[in-house]
Amino acid sequence: MLESLPRRVRIVEVGPRDGLQNEGRSISTADKVRFVDLLGAAGYQMVEVTSFVHPKAVPQLADAAEVLGAIERRPGVRYPVLVPNPRGMERALQAGAREVAVFTAATESFNRRNINATIDESLQNIGEVVRMARAEGVWVRGYISTVFGCPYEGAVAPDAPLRVAERLIELGVDEVSLGDTIGVATPRVVEAVLGPAADRFGVDRVGLHFHDTRGTALANTLLALQMGYRIFDASAGGLGGCPFAPGAAGNLATEDLLYLLDGLGIETGVNLEGVTTASRFIADKVGHPLTSKVYQATAATRAA
Ligand code: HMG
Ligand code: MG
Repeated sequence: MLESLPRRVRIVEVGPRDGLQNEGRSISTADKVRFVDLLGAAGYQMVEVTSFVHPKAVPQLADAAEVLGAIERRPGVRYPVLVPNPRGMERALQAGAREVAVFTAATESFNRRNINATIDESLQNIGEVVRMARAEGVWVRGYISTVFGCPYEGAVAPDAPLRVAERLIELGVDEVSLGDTIGVATPRVVEAVLGPAADRFGVDRVGLHFHDTRGTALANTLLALQMGYRIFDASAGGLGGCPFAPGAAGNLATEDLLYLLDGLGIETGVNLEGVTTASRFIADKVGHPLTSKVYQATAATRAA
């Protein structure tokens, strides 16, 4: 059953963006930079740094340009930033972004509430952002939210995210990330999307972005691994959520993902100790306990 698992997986760390966009307490720019730098030292190939959305929509990340300008860029590490539209892309380019992540959704109601646009309108914006990116040699990731369920529309037919993924790939994004925005997916619905997605787009340019709201993220991850997928988004300590998706708790915690992958003998290049160091640093700043089970177990062992 486990023989055919990939030998190597890329973990995309999204804690500084997906995590911190959802925190109530204000975090200083210097602490965000330190968090990214601690993560960079943990061995990732990709750390999503911040977001150039409207500062009124996400005031937590209003210092995006300052953060991106101050992080230590390690060779071999990509540092994407979220951009919603051409205006966000202008700001990101001005701040020195070399990798960006655009985003849309599988359902109209969520997209409207998240970015005040229909799916078609957002794809038009994304087309423009991709053109701007190409002109500057910038790498582009494309998120699709509400792939497996929507806070407003409930169950989502697999064809909806697949159609959006097709459009994103036609527009020229380098990689698509399929988001379980509110953490409702279970393996059967995951398989219904990932089977056709592997056939149509291949597993090399499709990542999974599980939120662990209902504790199913690792079960979904194991299924995706068995189907050959090898790009997984996660956030240090399990920070995260989306302010426009009621009930979207944290992302799959990096420590929990890493414990699973390490146990399966799958290489990531990421060092659990390094991630835990970054999590411990940020836990102190957000002012609440982190949800990662592996992080908690490590802290308990250390205390004992
Ligand atoms: P809008 O109000 O429709 O924007 O907001 P607009 O285009 O009508 O422009 C209105 C004004 O905002 C204009 O200024 C623009 O220049 C300005 P004015 O001319 O009136 O002075 N503006 C901007 N300013 C700074 N940066 C920008 C920008 N864009 C326009 N980028 C908009 C549309 C998309 C901007 C807004 O709805 C927004 O920022 N939404 C962000 C929502 C968000 O951040 N959600 C969380 C991230 S998505 C997520 O977490 C899911 C994910 O993790 C995957 C998953 O889990 O599913 C990725
Ligand atoms: Mg997310």
